[in-house]
Amino acid sequence: MSGTTQKPKILVARSIFPDILERLQDIADVQSNQADQIWDPEALRQALMDKDAAIISGSEAIGAAHLKTAPNLKIISNIAVGYNNLDLAALKAAQVLATNTPDVLTDTTADFGFALLMATARRVTEAEHWLRAGHWKKFSIFDTPLAMDIHHSTLGIMGMGRIGQAIAKRAAGFSMNVMYHNRSRLSADLEEACGAHYVDRDTLLKEADHIILVMPYTPDNHHLFGEKELRLMKPTATLINIARGGIVDELALAKALQEKRIFAAGIDVFEGEPTVRPELLALSNVVLSPHIASATAKTRRAMIELAVENCLAGLAGQTPPNLIA
Ligand code: GLV
Repeated sequence: MSGTTQKPKILVARSIFPDILERLQDIADVQSNQADQIWDPEALRQALMDKDAAIISGSEAIGAAHLKTAPNLKIISNIAVGYNNLDLAALKAAQVLATNTPDVLTDTTADFGFALLMATARRVTEAEHWLRAGHWKKFSIFDTPLAMDIHHSTLGIMGMGRIGQAIAKRAAGFSMNVMYHNRSRLSADLEEACGAHYVDRDTLLKEADHIILVMPYTPDNHHLFGEKELRLMKPTATLINIARGGIVDELALAKALQEKRIFAAGIDVFEGEPTVRPELLALSNVVLSPHIASATAKTRRAMIELAVENCLAGLAGQTPPNLIA
């Protein structure tokens, strides 16, 4: 802050609920973006130059170049649980705090993971398109989109943090056999509470009927799911991605789906989003959604409230509740 009597200068880089913005405007000098324009990196750098804090979404990437010209910046508050858009080393070097919004979105995101899994395995969107296209002439045993079961099947969860665990608990209601793979194994108590057992990655790829990706995106797992991994999966298996697009090699996935080497995929996150590869758009055995796993009104509000709380704590010199760096 430039002076004790002056209000802090806060950038709110994306549109947020107007009542929350108004509350922030009472206590801060706010530059907002209610038009929800996507700023290019240079516009974002310029908007940050005179700010004490910024509340951003996962679509705004922050790196050293942004920090070099923002001498007053104290905190970047990310409205997302994932923070692969932030260069944590650069933030640390510039002594700028960074926060995210965990917990408040766990159940909503797990619900959506299940919704996408159900839609994919049971061919819900494909069947609807088929109906809308006028193909439904009669009830038919075979001449109808036949699907894969969820109940009593094996679910493989890649990434067993909060969201992965919440998905495992939902799977119990469908009598699924739940296996998981994670950087570190859960305690025996947690495994029992989740009804999940640990396996190595290849076992999960080979044995799961449905695989769901919920791990953070890091340089280490860029294109972790490529041709080789997809070839290990069963031809009857589905792959669900609610983590980050870059974890899956989308061209290899499109090829596997096209050649029916796996049954179907459900994808909520894309490497070049909001652009979706034409190779995926052309396929009927993939359910595509526009990065909406946490998108309920209640949860998006809770995420923004938490991002504001983190931001104000950082500005006040306190440790924000969700400090990541
Ligand atoms: C959404 O993708 C999030 O990380 O919260």
